[in-house]
Amino acid sequence: MNKLTIRDVDVAGKRVLVRADFNVPLSGTNGVITDDSRIQATLPTIKYLTERGARVILCSHLGRPKGKVVEKLRLTTIAQRLSQILGQKVIVANDGIGPEVDKAVAALKPGDVLLLENIRFHPQEEANDTGFAQTLARLADIYVNDAFGACHRSHASIVGIARYLPAVAGLLVEKEIEVLEGLLANPSRPFAELAGGAKVSDKIKALENTMDKVDCLLIGGGMAATFLKAKGYEVGLSLVENDKLDLATKLMQRAAERKLPLILPVDVVAAAELSAETEYNVVAVEKIPPQWRIVDIGPKTIDSFSEELRRCQTIFWNGPMGVCEIAQFARGTQAMAKLLAGLEATTIIGGGSTAEVVTELKLADKMTFVSTGGGASIRFLSGEKLPGVEALLNREG
Ligand code: 3PG
Repeated sequence: MNKLTIRDVDVAGKRVLVRADFNVPLSGTNGVITDDSRIQATLPTIKYLTERGARVILCSHLGRPKGKVVEKLRLTTIAQRLSQILGQKVIVANDGIGPEVDKAVAALKPGDVLLLENIRFHPQEEANDTGFAQTLARLADIYVNDAFGACHRSHASIVGIARYLPAVAGLLVEKEIEVLEGLLANPSRPFAELAGGAKVSDKIKALENTMDKVDCLLIGGGMAATFLKAKGYEVGLSLVENDKLDLATKLMQRAAERKLPLILPVDVVAAAELSAETEYNVVAVEKIPPQWRIVDIGPKTIDSFSEELRRCQTIFWNGPMGVCEIAQFARGTQAMAKLLAGLEATTIIGGGSTAEVVTELKLADKMTFVSTGGGASIRFLSGEKLPGVEALLNREG
């Protein structure tokens, strides 16, 4: 990575504003954190700074409050969890900016940690408002971006602020970029991409970009329906992106020209409805009932994907193989997670729901790397620059 990091600046005694991505999944009813991986992943940066006597000001968003205060999206529970795992008090500010925040920052001692309130409570954050970015910048002497998961957003606390302070990467952003750059530049071969998730449109650019780099492309999940339909199969009521059928055909043609194996499901789990109580069955892809929809890959597909993946040295996996929120339809996703966890290969898991599944199965530490960025890692693999990373200071020479 050609960007400066916290290792390149003197942080002792300085006020350091760290943009983190504490946008963690919360359980619907009581707002309990169901996966704290993103909080855990920021610890190395926070500890690095506190151990060197920095005054740490943390800033994050949570959810999409659309510029208003939403009580259940306050960062209080994040502060509690962070405090537990950090083993020190985390001071909570009542806002992202304002006189109370100024006072809290002025009272910070070296090694203290302050967490600002959900920065998206202010509409100026997503608008990347200059005045707002300047106000945030005035809180600190140094800006650190450790919010890899939000680096694809051109927001005030991600991009705008970097114009007004020395801006460097945190250790998580550094690690994420190094892993993903390495994946594209220099993977051990054979290199496979296992793609899933609901929609082709979310991942099309990433598929187009990675296609020239992988030795094998396996497609499961909801997006397989669009590819199957493009091949002429009837896929019942499965979600098909009709405007992406041509693109799917082109990708398959490109793969054929390159002699790149592009492997689709041969059988699927099809269900009458999208519910846990519904009728469902394993069927060959030629025999999907007209009133049913694809909800998972079938056992023969699990076998064929597994056989292919076992001979690979590098595997990048992004997107569940089925509707994994419903236990009966999570088998394909779980089978892939368990398979990858047991392989010697380099296994890199894209963020978002794939990372959540792997963490829930307690397999995260069996993978080489689990990214904390869903949209951000896809954007990176699409060959696009991440505005949050671009905004940081370049390493000279
Ligand atoms: C994410 O969860 O992908 C990041 O925190 C970004 O959140 P957003 O999609 O609401 O911008």
